[in-house]
Amino acid sequence: MRIIAMAFCLVLMCADLVDAQEKSFRLAVPDELSETGLLAYVLPRFSLKTGIRITVVSADAEANAILGRSGTPVFKSGDEVWHCASDGGVHTTAFLDWLESDVGKRAIDAFQVDGVALFSSDVSVAEVEEVVVLDGDAGEGAKLAMHHCGRCHVVSEANRMNAIGSTPSFALLRTFEDWDYRFQAFFALKPHPAFTQVAEITEPFPEDVPSPIVPVEITLDDLDAILAFVATIAPADLGAPLQSQ
Ligand code: HEC
Repeated sequence: MRIIAMAFCLVLMCADLVDAQEKSFRLAVPDELSETGLLAYVLPRFSLKTGIRITVVSADAEANAILGRSGTPVFKSGDEVWHCASDGGVHTTAFLDWLESDVGKRAIDAFQVDGVALFSSDVSVAEVEEVVVLDGDAGEGAKLAMHHCGRCHVVSEANRMNAIGSTPSFALLRTFEDWDYRFQAFFALKPHPAFTQVAEITEPFPEDVPSPIVPVEITLDDLDAILAFVATIAPADLGAPLQSQ
């Protein structure tokens, strides 16, 4: 019995190692899209070409990329345009590039159910209409957040060790129901006003009270991108309701 248990542990450990080395990422997909079968058709073609494996997870699970309403428009079904927001990592970027490549588009267009093509890779018209409502670019947002906010906040695994411990992580802030409001207004919420300038929005620092640290200087577009990125962050699993201070 003991030996079987040990062997089992070894297998698990090896599986873990393989996992860590493998080129892979997690893609969050709403059920309604999973159910169409499009991804089961398209993703293996991407993986075969690139060697990057994609684990599809539910829309609210932690993921490196999300198919939904924000990010880059990638395909449409009737009038509904699907977008992809990603963390800007190498593998998710490769996936976005592939979706926008001729090979990727052909795969999307070739998918049929009972002889009917359900999706179209032609999002060019939609893109023009989207300009007004299009959310920020999450990939860009990831970089901006790391640069501007990562000085204090843990924004992702990448800066887990060098942020300021007492500052709430983005995953923690993401647990608030009104997280999007808080992020949209962060520059007006303490402690940010003392050191933050949003172009065309904030007043210059008072002359007698200059920013005590190298200021955070961003534009509204930057903030949109950061919001799109924060939308891709899974809320921290707190186990118990958060006590507000
Ligand atoms: C110099 C350090 C510092 C930087 C840089 C910084 N923050 Fe913060 N932020 C804090 C601290 C500290 C808090 C916690 C304030 C509190 O709990 O009262 C906070 C809180 C927040 C909150 C929650 C506010 C609330 O009241 O609910 C948001 C949202 C936020 N930060 C977003 C950002 C974003 C976005 C950036 C980058 C563009 C950023 N922060 C850059 C220190 C910083």
